[in-house]
Amino acid sequence: MSAPEFDHPDVVLVPHGPMLLRGVGSVQDADGTVHPVERPVVALCRCEKSSRLPWCDGTHKVIPR
Ligand code: FES
Repeated sequence: MSAPEFDHPDVVLVPHGPMLLRGVGSVQDADGTVHPVERPVVALCRCEKSSRLPWCDGTHKVIPR
């Protein structure tokens, strides 16, 4: 079951954390790889330290600011 696509996905930037996306069917990374989205909300890593890029794995919480 895939997430429904909306005309205008919701985007929330978590301070010092990921970008939350709601209503997208896929995410394309900087290399052009398309990652299917099957959840209503996904968290994209913005710190680039995640071991599961492009997804946030919580590593940002242990990075000193
Ligand atoms: S933003 Fe969470 S691991 Fe990068």
